[in-house]
Amino acid sequence: MVDLSVQLGSLTFRNPVAMASGNAGYGFEYQSVSGFSNRDVGAIFLKGTTLEPKLGNKPERVMETPSGLLNSIGLQNPGAHAVIKDYLPKCDLSQSQFIINVSGATIEEYAEVVRLFDQTDLPAIEVNISCPNVKKGGAAFGNDPDMAAQVVEACRKNTTKPLIVKLSPNQTDIAEGARRVIEAGADMLSAVNTLMGMQIDIHTARPTLGNNQGGLSGPAIKPVALLKVHQIYQVAKQHQIPIIGLGGISCADDAIEFLLAGASMVAVGTALAKDPLLVKKINKGIARYMQRYGYQSVAEITGKLTLNTDTVLCG
Ligand code: FUM
Repeated sequence: MVDLSVQLGSLTFRNPVAMASGNAGYGFEYQSVSGFSNRDVGAIFLKGTTLEPKLGNKPERVMETPSGLLNSIGLQNPGAHAVIKDYLPKCDLSQSQFIINVSGATIEEYAEVVRLFDQTDLPAIEVNISCPNVKKGGAAFGNDPDMAAQVVEACRKNTTKPLIVKLSPNQTDIAEGARRVIEAGADMLSAVNTLMGMQIDIHTARPTLGNNQGGLSGPAIKPVALLKVHQIYQVAKQHQIPIIGLGGISCADDAIEFLLAGASMVAVGTALAKDPLLVKKINKGIARYMQRYGYQSVAEITGKLTLNTDTVLCG
C-alpha cells in the first residue's frame, strides 16, 4: 500500500533499506536463508574489492564487544577480475541494485578498479576511502581531505556511473571531508564506516584482534553515526547530494532516525548477523511510520529533524 521507493540521483531503489558492504558478501550468500529474497532489499553493497586478490589480515579478525563487533578483515577479496568474471554473473539485477565497493592501496589502484567496474552492468560504484584495517589506502586516505579528494577525482575520470563515496567517522571534520569529496565528483555519500577500536585480553595482555585494532560497528556506534549524518546533511543538501546513512542500525526506529537526520536511504550491516530478515522488517516499520504520520514518500522524511533552539538554561 505504501510506496517505499526512493530516487537517489539517477538511481531508483525499490525501498530505502540496503545491505552494507562486507555484510552481504557478493550478493548470493543469503539466498539459502529461509524467507530471504534479494527482492526485499533496496540495494546490496558488495564486499570491498581491490585490483589483486587479498587474503586479508591475520586472525582473530572478528570479536564481539558490548553492543557491537570489532572487525579487522583487511579487505579479503578475490580481486576485481575474478569478481567481474565469476561473481557478477550471479547478481540478478532484476532483483535488486547491486553496487560494488572498491578499494585500493594507491590512488592509481582505486582509479583502475573503478575503470574495470565501469565496464560492467552494475548501476553504481561505492568508493571505500574509510576501511580502517589496511595499512595503505582506506581510512588513511579518507581521514585526509586532500587525499580523499584526489582519490575521488581520479575515480571520477574513469567512470560515468554514479560514484558513492563512503566516509570515515574517524576524520576530524566530516562536513569538510564531505564537501571536498563532493567537489571532487562524488554523486552520493555513504556515512559512516566503522569507528576505530581495540580490545585487550587481560589474561595474555595482548590485543584480541590479530591486527591489534579494528573497526567497531553495531548498535554501540549508532549515536555517533547519526550525528555524523546530521553534520554532513547541510553540505550534501546544498549540492543536492543524497546520503546513505549507516552505522549501528538494527530496527526500523533506528532507520527512521537516520532518515530524519538527512539520509535518503539507509544500510544495515552488523545486525544482519543476528537477523538476516531484518531488511524486510525495517521496511515494514518504515511503512507503518509513514502511514501513522501521513508521509506519502520516504523522501518527505529526509532531513525532517527540527533542532532544539533554546539549548542553554538561563537564570
Ligand atoms: O577490513 C575490512 O575488510 C573492512 C572494510 C571496511 O570497513 O571498509
